[in-house]
Amino acid sequence: MKRHEQLCIGMSLAPTWLSGDGWRRPDSGIAGLFSSEFATRIAQRAEAAHLDFVFRPDASALPVAPLEQSFGFASLDPTLMLASLVQATSQIGLVTTISTTFTHPYTIARQLMSLHWMSRGRAGWNVVTALAGHENFGLSDMPSSAERYARAAEYVQAVQALWDSFPAEALLMDAGTGRYADTTLIRPADHAGPVFDIAGPLNIPTYPGPRIPVMQAGASPGGVALAGQIADMVFGQTLDKPTALETSARLGAAAEQAGRAPGAVRLLPGLSLYLAETRDEARALFLATQARVTREQRIERVRVATGLDLSDWRDDARVTVADLPADHQPRLPAHRDILHALIASDTPTVADLLARPEVLASVHWQVIGTVDDALAIIADWFDAGAIDGFVAVPGGSWDCMERVLGQLIPRLAQAGLFRSRYHGDTLADHLSD
Ligand SMILES: Cc1cc2nc3c(=O)[nH]c(=O)nc-3n(C[C@H](O)[C@H](O)[C@H](O)COP(=O)(O)O)c2cc1C
Repeated sequence: MKRHEQLCIGMSLAPTWLSGDGWRRPDSGIAGLFSSEFATRIAQRAEAAHLDFVFRPDASALPVAPLEQSFGFASLDPTLMLASLVQATSQIGLVTTISTTFTHPYTIARQLMSLHWMSRGRAGWNVVTALAGHENFGLSDMPSSAERYARAAEYVQAVQALWDSFPAEALLMDAGTGRYADTTLIRPADHAGPVFDIAGPLNIPTYPGPRIPVMQAGASPGGVALAGQIADMVFGQTLDKPTALETSARLGAAAEQAGRAPGAVRLLPGLSLYLAETRDEARALFLATQARVTREQRIERVRVATGLDLSDWRDDARVTVADLPADHQPRLPAHRDILHALIASDTPTVADLLARPEVLASVHWQVIGTVDDALAIIADWFDAGAIDGFVAVPGGSWDCMERVLGQLIPRLAQAGLFRSRYHGDTLADHLSD
C-alpha cells in the first residue's frame, strides 16, 4: 500500500548522464562542469518540472585512476554549488551532502542555516557517514560502522541544539524601541557528548519558517536506525522491488521504534534512467556509454555480484546456474539475483554474458527503455508501497536527461502520481504535499 498520495522526486546534480563515455558527446557541456551555470541549467529545468529538490551527493576523497577516462569524484563543493542556485531558482529544494564523519557540527550547523536563510526555507541535508577519506582528515583508519553511526547520531543532536540556541523569536528588529534581539531567548547549546563538546550559541539565528529536512544514505542496521530517528527521506540503493519493499518495511519499523509515524521516512532510491524513443535505442545508448569498460572490469562485476570468477574461461563457454557459488553474499544481493535470473533463463556464453547491460548494472535501480517503460515500473513500485519516490540519476546523454525532466516527469503528473504545480515555496512544503 502506498504511503503518500504522490511521489517525491529529486534530481541528482551529479552529472550521471555524462559518466562513462557520456561526457565525450559534442553536446555534453563537459567544459562547464566546474561552473555554476552547469548546475543552474539543470536546477532550472528540474524546477520547471516541479521536482521536490535537486541533490548533490559528495565524497571526501579522490580516486585518481578513474580520471583517465571520466570525471569520477571530482566536483565542486556541494553546499557552495547549491548556494550558487539560490538566485537562479525560487521554489525547488536544495539538498546538500555533508559527512558527519569528517566535519564539525558548529561549522555545518552554520552553513546549513545560512543556505536555509539565503534560499528562504529550501535547504535540505543529506547526512552521510562516508565510505572513504580518513587519510585526508588525519585519521589512521576509517572508523567502524558502529563508531560512525554513533558519531552521526550525536552530531545531528548537536546541530539541532545549535539551531535551537538562537531561536527565530529572539530576533525582534524593532526599530521603534531600538531593540534588535531578545537576548534572554538566546542560550548556550551546551552540548556535551562522548565526541563533541560545544558551548554555543550559534552565530546565526534560526530561519523563521519550516525546518531543514534531513535525508540519510546508508542501509546497514545502524543506518536504518538513524534514519528512523532523524530522517524525512532515505536515499536508497534498492535494485529490485522485493528489496525496496523490504527496505520500506524496515524504515517504517525504525520510525515507529523512534516514536514516529511509519510513513515518516520516505524511501527514495536512486533511479538510473537510460531513456530513448525505442527500447533498442535505449539499450544502444547504455552500451555506447559503457563501451570502454574492459573485459577485466566486466569479469570483476560478475565476480563481485555472483562469486563466479570467469578470468580463465573461454568466450564461447556457456555459463549455467550450477557454476554460481551457492554461498556468495554480495553487498548488493539484488545484482546477484538479476544475474542469476539471466543465467538461468539464457545459459549465455561468456562473451554474451559480458556484453549484457545487466552485468554493468548501475548501483541503483535501473530502467533502460522508453518513457512508457519507466512510467509503468515507477507506478507499479509506488502503488505497491515499495517506494515513496526516487532520486533521478539519468544516464548516457544530455538528451536522456532532458527526456527525464521534459517527458517522464510530466507524464507522471498527468497520471496523477506527481504534482503539476508547486503548492509552497519551501522544501518542507513540498514534502507535505
Ligand atoms: C544510496 C547511497 C548513497 C550514498 N551517498 C553517499 C555520498 O554521497 N557521500 C558519502 O560520503 N557517502 C555516501 N554513502 C555512504 C553512506 O553514508 C554510508 O557511509 C555507507 O553506506 C555505509 O553505511 P551502511 O553500512 O549503513 O550502508 C551513500 C550510501 C548509499 C547507500
